[in-house]
Amino acid sequence: MKFHYPELLHGGDYNPEQWMEQKDTIWKQDMQYAREAGINTLSVGIFSWAYLEPEDGVYDFSWMDEVMDNLAANGIKAVLATPSAARPPWLARKYPSVLRVTPERLTQLYGNRHNACYSSPDYERKVTEINTRLAERYKDHPALLMWHVSNEYNNECHCPRCQDRFREWLRERYGTIENLNRCWWGGFWSHRYASFEEIESPSPIGESCSNGLIQAWKRFSSDNLIRFFKTEIAPLRRLTPDVPVTTNLMYLFSGLDYFRLGRELDIASWDNYPTWKGDERDVETSREVAFNHDIIRGVGGQKPFLLMESSPSSVNWQPINRLRKPGTLMYQSMQAIAHGSDSVQYFQFRAGRGGSEQFHGAVIERTGTTNTRAFREVSEVGAMLKHLKAVAGSETRNRIALVYDIDVRWALDEASLLHKNKQKYVETVRSFHSVLSAMGYGVDIVDETGDLSGYDVLIAPMAYETRDGYGEKVQEFVKNGGVYVTTYVSGYVNEELLTYMDADPCPLNEVTGMHVDECDALDDRTFAHFHWNGKKYRVKEMAELATPTTAVPLAVYADRFYATKPCFTVNEYGKGRCYYIAVRTDADFLRDSLTCILGEAGLQPILPRLPEGVSVTERYQEDGTRFLFVHNATHEKQHVSLPKAMKEAASGKVVYEQLELGELSIAVLTDE
Ligand code: GAL
Repeated sequence: MKFHYPELLHGGDYNPEQWMEQKDTIWKQDMQYAREAGINTLSVGIFSWAYLEPEDGVYDFSWMDEVMDNLAANGIKAVLATPSAARPPWLARKYPSVLRVTPERLTQLYGNRHNACYSSPDYERKVTEINTRLAERYKDHPALLMWHVSNEYNNECHCPRCQDRFREWLRERYGTIENLNRCWWGGFWSHRYASFEEIESPSPIGESCSNGLIQAWKRFSSDNLIRFFKTEIAPLRRLTPDVPVTTNLMYLFSGLDYFRLGRELDIASWDNYPTWKGDERDVETSREVAFNHDIIRGVGGQKPFLLMESSPSSVNWQPINRLRKPGTLMYQSMQAIAHGSDSVQYFQFRAGRGGSEQFHGAVIERTGTTNTRAFREVSEVGAMLKHLKAVAGSETRNRIALVYDIDVRWALDEASLLHKNKQKYVETVRSFHSVLSAMGYGVDIVDETGDLSGYDVLIAPMAYETRDGYGEKVQEFVKNGGVYVTTYVSGYVNEELLTYMDADPCPLNEVTGMHVDECDALDDRTFAHFHWNGKKYRVKEMAELATPTTAVPLAVYADRFYATKPCFTVNEYGKGRCYYIAVRTDADFLRDSLTCILGEAGLQPILPRLPEGVSVTERYQEDGTRFLFVHNATHEKQHVSLPKAMKEAASGKVVYEQLELGELSIAVLTDE
């Protein structure tokens, strides 16, 4: 099902149950303030379990009926949550199986949130019951827009049930214990299991070295959560088949395979809490956020996603909770829209008087008035989103795909090679993303299982683990004319994390036309160098020594004992070609080499020659209407040349070829 709403959503987490005793005044005021701020959607019920089911089997929906009716009467849509993220105390007392067990095998007490055992039959049953009741009760309610399932799902639990499930999962994956031993290289350190029963999840007091076991556990924990998610949404799918389902994700959270979970969602959504500094460091922050947005759009299959939470002012959980400069909220909000979000939503609508988030930013802050900067800035965002209504539902049409793969990240996190525990996978993928954005290109992010049709260029930095089928897919892609760019530390291990018996990057030897003989790890005082196109570049941290078979060296090392060995190669393969960057460099080489590679592939940037700190993205409606977003992440004015006059999408004002961008701002333009 594709989520479609004719407006951009504006709203946030609304917890009116915290004000039950003042509902006659506060709830009314909430609706009035929401309208004033241009809010058209509120997420309700996220942490409401104790109010919806105050005792086991005793339900009270009367207050929620009132909330839903209030929303409908005020033209506000409900993103209705299932309350599974925070359990009421009675549930833990009556059904202790819901309590999570830590890797040290300690059963947790009741407390906090986001900490249930996803294998607990009691939890599953109680969640199914309450979700069924919610769906039955509100399925025809005019306010119901979509389901917000749980909140920021995370894993993992090490209880005996989870151990049993893990063993079942292993049986299914490996078939026999002999096969498991083979895949986990059980001949090493006598780790040869006689039966599945001998296997325990990794633990600091037990197994912490077997990369096969650790990877399997991560995959299992992710699969177990996705299985739970499917159980959790089963009543929603059955009773409200036309109501879209989402769950809010946490950007680079590594405990869950978001791309896999994404296949179960109707629309992806995430919570964005950047640490803006109000100075030149915001360029870097902005790059990080851009990467995160693009990951979530990838998780949702490159369709529009939702910004489900962001702070309307500061947060209260960072080491230093700074105020933001005026205008930052608009930038943060427009950045989400520019990367494909169809919403700007906040945590939280009204601040509670107590609890650990009482001092967190809110649309309505603790004075309870609208005479605050946060409220004014939120209202400005609301007005802007109304003007940009035509953007809703539009999609990107990027020709470059960048691979970010959670399985590779898990594998590299445990890989004892080169730099101990610090291979910098995420940083490396992000450095490619940042350079491409600064060059004026829009980028889609896929994982190794992703669909490559529609892309001209595929960039896979540090594709250390080649998942089953990935090598063949890349071969096909290049054979058919695609350009593949890959780097050092690629194709070292297969999906079982076993090294290949052939030279790296296996199974991409043919496509890359070279093989790696050795890889050096450089410390922070050791560098190598090479020249390319008349410029000298620095090599840091990782340097592979490769031998070309059919590839042509484009650059060779200039120094160290590897002088004259190739460090940058190209290989013609079928109708396409593959570039291999055997070295970790600074951004200058990435930029220069990608300029050349993309130019040769015939891909022009959306806008060329952007000033430092400026980037561009595009969204298209099905009828071809284009929205161009020009982002200025600096705290200075910037000027950007447009190839032709355009108009501001919000005001219709014509913008001539010289676009002036105010500090930390995003211009949204459309063709005249
Ligand atoms: C999110 C969470 C919200 C709230 C917020 C505070 O991660 O989903 O419930 O805690 O952080 O910034």
